[in-house]
Amino acid sequence: MSNPEQLIKKENTLNPDNWLKEVRVFAPATVANMICGFDILGFAVEKPGDEVFMQQVEEVGVRIRSIKGDDGRLPLDPDKNTVSACVKMLLNHLGIENEIGVEIDLIKHMPIGSGLGSSSASTVAGLFAINALLGNPLTKNELMPFCVEGERLACGHGHADNVAPALMGGITLIRGYEPLDIISLPVPEDLVAGIVFPQVDVPTRDARQLIKEKVSLKDAVNQWGNIAGLVAGLYRSDYDLIGRSMHDVLIEPTRAILIPEFYEMKRIAMEAGALSFGISGSGPSVVAISKGAEAAQLAVNRIQEHLTANGIESLQFVSAVNAEGPKILS
Ligand code: HSE
Repeated sequence: MSNPEQLIKKENTLNPDNWLKEVRVFAPATVANMICGFDILGFAVEKPGDEVFMQQVEEVGVRIRSIKGDDGRLPLDPDKNTVSACVKMLLNHLGIENEIGVEIDLIKHMPIGSGLGSSSASTVAGLFAINALLGNPLTKNELMPFCVEGERLACGHGHADNVAPALMGGITLIRGYEPLDIISLPVPEDLVAGIVFPQVDVPTRDARQLIKEKVSLKDAVNQWGNIAGLVAGLYRSDYDLIGRSMHDVLIEPTRAILIPEFYEMKRIAMEAGALSFGISGSGPSVVAISKGAEAAQLAVNRIQEHLTANGIESLQFVSAVNAEGPKILS
């Protein structure tokens, strides 16, 4: 806390008269990896996303009052639930954990274990909510390490490629992890994600355990060429360059086996005119990166028809990149 504005914010935070009574926050789903950038690239979408309703109460402590939309799969224990655990961490950091009581209702609007950053959206919504309730003592950059800890709690690894875009909005690059160095990248106007979630469960923890620790230099050269090409394509709004750069030779071949009909879905998406196609995060959701909503819609419709014909239930989402990230609903 160095500059005068931050000192005033800190004072406000420590003064309960300035705390809000309640706040409702939405935070978006994300497409981590952006196909070629394992653990370093990701973008936020407009929908789906999760909602947190946070209320200040008399009794000191952080409690989860209810969770909707999780089929009873998420813990209510405040030390195990990533939302409450991160809120506690933040209050502890501010030195006010024994001075405030909050109760949390978590409303999940997206499937767990889907590859859409479900736990990240909840964590980011919770941290954004407590920060707003306290009068925004921390900047988004300052909130980020708490979000990463939430991810570590959720899946055993503190990658930031879901939480960074969920919190910052837009497309983010994790230039480095030690220290965390997050760069926002430009968003070409017509970039649209057509997402299909085949309804099988692939926990991130399991999908990470499959990955090879070592890669060949040839594959690494291929992959970093693609990442650099994608970044250049985003700066130039060059959709062809974006499309031909979004290929993953490192992770996709291993993870594709967890996703039913993956290569057939890829063929269908590319035939329908997608710029590129790949796994969203750790899967099983897949993403057809497209130029314009019409092209994205066509790709997801055809993919869904194929899945249905093969007896696989699925959900679809078509969304532009969400520039804003979390927002206060009320
Ligand atoms: N980068 C992560 C992975 C995103 O692919 O495992 C999923 O949370």
